[in-house]
Amino acid sequence: MKIGFFDSGLGGLTIFKEAINSYKANYVYLGDNGHAPYGVKSKEEVKEYVFKCIKYLIDCECKLIVIACNTATSICINDLREMYSNICFIGTEPAIKPAIVKNPNKKILVTATTLTLKEEKLKNLMNALDVKNNFELLPMDKLVEFAEHGDKIDYLSANNYIKESLEKINFKEYSSIVLGCTHFPIFENEFKNNVPNYIEIIDSAKGVVNNVISHAKDMNFKNNMDIEINITKPDEYFFEKATNILELKKEDMRCKIISNSIA
Ligand code: DGL
Repeated sequence: MKIGFFDSGLGGLTIFKEAINSYKANYVYLGDNGHAPYGVKSKEEVKEYVFKCIKYLIDCECKLIVIACNTATSICINDLREMYSNICFIGTEPAIKPAIVKNPNKKILVTATTLTLKEEKLKNLMNALDVKNNFELLPMDKLVEFAEHGDKIDYLSANNYIKESLEKINFKEYSSIVLGCTHFPIFENEFKNNVPNYIEIIDSAKGVVNNVISHAKDMNFKNNMDIEINITKPDEYFFEKATNILELKKEDMRCKIISNSIA
């Protein structure tokens, strides 16, 4: 029995890192780099890609699957739970609740992909938490490309883009920024560079991983560690960037290109 992790590319590794550092298990990570970025595509297109990738993870004997992607969670998690009732799915949503609980009287800035910000799931979450007008939504899709494209993660362009995107925000009214896309924590330092010190930068990794651990304990996963990283399109730089994000060596994980298995 394995634990699967899924994202459009490198972003889910920001949650995966927290998981492998907190809980020993057989892990299979799948990044659909062949189709990233998801956040600017149509809902229907993204659904098709996600279904194929999840089928692959299930064929790999994953019984617990983490959708380490806010965009895919908002579009598909209900359908996936209906289609595969024997699999435990854990989704990723923008960590709005912890942001409000800590600072109920100040505004929060919710950053995510265009698709996540458009979806019903986010609106429902906001209504359930009674956030009302105390928030601002900001799409920051380009950050995904600064991580995915090229031989190295482009921290410099990301920094300039974050600076430009946040220029008009009056941070005096705000307590925190919610990073509602799993790619965004890759640029946590660049966010820190461009906001006042008192602004808290909040992501979903800890919350998701606590959830994973409590389910994994109930499901009796073997406690030996194994890490396999799969991608859907050959990219010689992906695995190098992945080892950097995870702070691992290449020998600590097996890397596979699975383009033919999910076509
Ligand atoms: N990392 C993903 C998310 O959390 C998707 C980013 C993308 O592919 O646009 O939304």
